Amino acid sequence: MKNSIKIFEVGPRDGLQNELIILDPKIKIEFIERLSRTGLKNIEVGALVSPKWVPQMQGSDGIFKKVAGQNKISKSLSTKKAASKKKPELNKGDINYSLLIPNLKGLDLAVQCGAKEVAIFTAASEKFCKKNINCTIAESFERFAPVMKQAKQHKIKVRGYLSTVFECPFEGPVSAEKVAKLTEDLFKIGCYEVSLGDTIGVGTPNNVEALFKALKKRKLPIDKIAMHFHNTRGTALANVLKSLDLGFRIFDSSVGGLGGCPYAPGALGNLATEDLIYFVERLGFQTGVDLKKMIQVHHWIQSVIGRPLSSHLGRSGLA
Ligand code: HMG
Ligand code: MG
Repeated sequence: MKNSIKIFEVGPRDGLQNELIILDPKIKIEFIERLSRTGLKNIEVGALVSPKWVPQMQGSDGIFKKVAGQNKISKSLSTKKAASKKKPELNKGDINYSLLIPNLKGLDLAVQCGAKEVAIFTAASEKFCKKNINCTIAESFERFAPVMKQAKQHKIKVRGYLSTVFECPFEGPVSAEKVAKLTEDLFKIGCYEVSLGDTIGVGTPNNVEALFKALKKRKLPIDKIAMHFHNTRGTALANVLKSLDLGFRIFDSSVGGLGGCPYAPGALGNLATEDLIYFVERLGFQTGVDLKKMIQVHHWIQSVIGRPLSSHLGRSGLA
């Protein structure tokens, strides 16, 4: 079975969308560029959603253009001291920068800024779907139809997110069969990869196993399914271990454990990227990401945000 893990870094999007402070675009750009130097190959840089709904993500198009528009970055670090260290140039051509979009308006903006990948998102529970994107699950798929068509015309890859795959903050437990059916629907409309979100961080390994069985029953490709664990109750790494045993090899995570959804009460941060790297590499998997550099990004973004972040490795002082 494949020994390498794909990490999809969601810190600049899932991480920052839930912070009380709205960071200056220049800082966000620096954040993404620092992440880009760690060896990450997949970074979600922001969201083209309504600024009335999520003001933290405003200006993501400009940030995307700055980050992905130039192929190389060198003296981009903000402090004089850092710049004087003359960081080697980084070829960003092989980093996949992605944007979250809810509708056709989001896709149009993504096209304008030259995105090669976007992510659509819906949920497995009606009440969360309504709170998050103001429509039913069925309506969200109606919105996706023209999005998928235009994305194809522009050769933009589309990732699909499905939220509340174990439990909804408003409706309670969600059936694995329902999640598997919606995952299949996301593949059917053309998503190249589907990310399954434990939005409020309630899942335990038995939930992962039940979900796996339902996905297998529908013969869905486990190698194209990402697990997106929020770590509200400290169960994310246990869920990763179970997922690895079952054959999942793609994980979403966020440096420092930043994250949460403004429309999911009680949702804390994502699984921290540095904790994920340490854990899977100790188990013999490769991530291609430099753990030490990731911990340094943790310290940097923590100082910018001004509150202690939750990751274990970040707090350990190891870097
Ligand atoms: P709505 O109010 O029903 O839609 O919102 P609307 O069409 O009436 O639009 C309202 C306003 O937003 C209009 O502006 C639109 O132009 C504008 P106005 O005319 O009032 O000035 N608008 C947009 N602006 C920029 N970009 C757009 C866009 N679309 C409309 N794409 C809508 C519906 C979907 C827009 C809204 O509900 C929304 O933006 N929701 C986003 C919520 C969100 O971002 N949640 C967090 C991300 S999901 C998540 O975190 C879960 C995940 O991590 C997985 C997991 O953990 O489970 C992915
Ligand atoms: Mg999330």
